[in-house]
Amino acid sequence: MSDLLARHRAVMPNWMALYYNEPIEIVGGKGNRVVDANGKSYLDFFAGILTNMIGYDVPEVREAVERQLATGVVHTSTLYLIRSQVELAEKIARLSGIPDAKVFFTNSGTEANETALLLATYARGSDQVLAMRQSYHGRSFGAVSVTSNRSWKNNSLSPLNVHFLHGADRHLAQFRGMSDADYIAACVDDLRHVLATAVTKDVAALIAEPIQGVGGFTMAPDGLFAAYKEVLDEEGILFISDEVQTGWGRTGSAFFGIQNHGVTPDMMTFAKGLGNGFAVGGIVARGDLMDGPHAVGLSTFGGNPISMAAANATLDYVLDHDLQAKAARTGEIIVSGLREAAERLPVVGDVRGKGLMFAIELVDPATGAPAPALAARFMEETKRLGLLAGKGGLYGSTLRMAPPLTLTEDEAREGLGILVTALEAVNDEAR
Ligand SMILES: Cc1ncc(COP(=O)(O)O)c(C=O)c1O
Repeated sequence: MSDLLARHRAVMPNWMALYYNEPIEIVGGKGNRVVDANGKSYLDFFAGILTNMIGYDVPEVREAVERQLATGVVHTSTLYLIRSQVELAEKIARLSGIPDAKVFFTNSGTEANETALLLATYARGSDQVLAMRQSYHGRSFGAVSVTSNRSWKNNSLSPLNVHFLHGADRHLAQFRGMSDADYIAACVDDLRHVLATAVTKDVAALIAEPIQGVGGFTMAPDGLFAAYKEVLDEEGILFISDEVQTGWGRTGSAFFGIQNHGVTPDMMTFAKGLGNGFAVGGIVARGDLMDGPHAVGLSTFGGNPISMAAANATLDYVLDHDLQAKAARTGEIIVSGLREAAERLPVVGDVRGKGLMFAIELVDPATGAPAPALAARFMEETKRLGLLAGKGGLYGSTLRMAPPLTLTEDEAREGLGILVTALEAVNDEAR
């Protein structure tokens, strides 16, 4: 064991997992590649869990942060006007499509979701919330209570009364083989049944990830959330889209993931990629909902001048370079290549994705059962070949990848080549 790994194990929590049999330390990065402490270079297909959204060492972001540092002001507090915060809020409000939108900045996705849940429960005078099975929304009490994945849930204590819906689980036996329309109809029937049986009177909100991150990039068929929203609207139930992973054009086909469903939610939460690594999260919501609570509130570090400088520069970069369209193109190269390879590789149970958010499901070729051990093998193999991937899903058998949106077409083809080589190796071993 390396000295740093031993020291890590001694002072960091056990539950903070490390990738790889021999974990790596990333010490440098440029473009869409990183270098570890041994000098080995990797094409980064996980981007610090979708957070290094426009890659490494981006002059526009670095210079924006350096300009702010040069003013001598790192923090002022929200007691004073912060120009960069107002500018970023204006941009996000406009892009959200939410009418009369207002924005509140936090430091993380968890905090953003806590804020959304607070606003919704306050507005509706109810602690009843709907969430999706297999979801992940963060690690605080409120966020854990709407999380639906045993591996990420340490207890059942909850400030909320939560019921979980179908919609991102069509791999289950009872839904397998259904058309999109039939699956959506079955889920809507189930939602109506939950409302009739499991809740009392008013429900505050539904919170959902348009594509489930930790869940393994499982997703509802386009249109499901529009069908859900029709039912929610009948009772005034609010809809919160958790865009922590799916925002900013990542899905290629829409700027926010939920827009793939033709739906405008009442609130969206965001974090991860917006600051390209600088800590920033937030919520964009209908103005009346945002203004609702009677008590004063603030987040000390939320929307601080440094994170705002980074986030404005990152968002401008995404828009100026139309990275959404780029994600659609590069994602298509990779996903179509993976689908082609999957036809001759029985270990691949499923390939799914939208834009630069795609996943491979590994299965036991004999039984079709989820194969977490093969996923672990794939991780070691891609590491050896110089590519960083992610792992997840309910059974730990999903390989999930989300490279920086700046990935070039050549890098997409290079990465695809590595993924296919690694899949072939795992497939050979599994036979
Ligand atoms: C969909 C989603 N929501 C919320 C969170 C929590 O964000 P954070 O880790 O910034 O608190 C995550 C983190 O992985 C996430 O994927």
